[in-house]
Amino acid sequence: MKQKEREIPGTYEPLQWESKYSVREQFLDTHHQSLLALVNLLRSMCQDTIKKELVLATLADLKEYCNYHFIAEEKYMAINHYTGLEEHRESHELYTRTITSFYQEIETGKLDKIFDLVDFLEQWWEHHILVLDQDYADFIEARA
Ligand SMILES: [Fe+2]
Ligand SMILES: [Fe+2]
Repeated sequence: MKQKEREIPGTYEPLQWESKYSVREQFLDTHHQSLLALVNLLRSMCQDTIKKELVLATLADLKEYCNYHFIAEEKYMAINHYTGLEEHRESHELYTRTITSFYQEIETGKLDKIFDLVDFLEQWWEHHILVLDQDYADFIEARA
């Protein structure tokens, strides 16, 4: 994926929820909206002065909420016999590993990593929610 220009600290606007993100299942859309709120909270922390403890606490919340969401989403895919479940599960695992590694780097004092983190989260949001999550939504809708 192409690396975009880094935004200037203090100019990270919140990402907006749009109907194209819907996976046509209310409880999963609600999860995704909560995830987006946490991503936006991290974006708002991209300032000249980075508050390490706040970033780490939010990142820990994001990790915990993702874990909760991934379990629910994988169950939903399994009960609907989604054929791409294993590949999708791997994408969730990679995400969790990446978030953990960002957490560790920021914890050791590399505060600038928050900028790479929010870029990663934005790309993940566009790719995972809009492509991979849409794939199971289309599959399940076609079976209904
Ligand atoms: Fe997913
Ligand atoms: Fe999801």
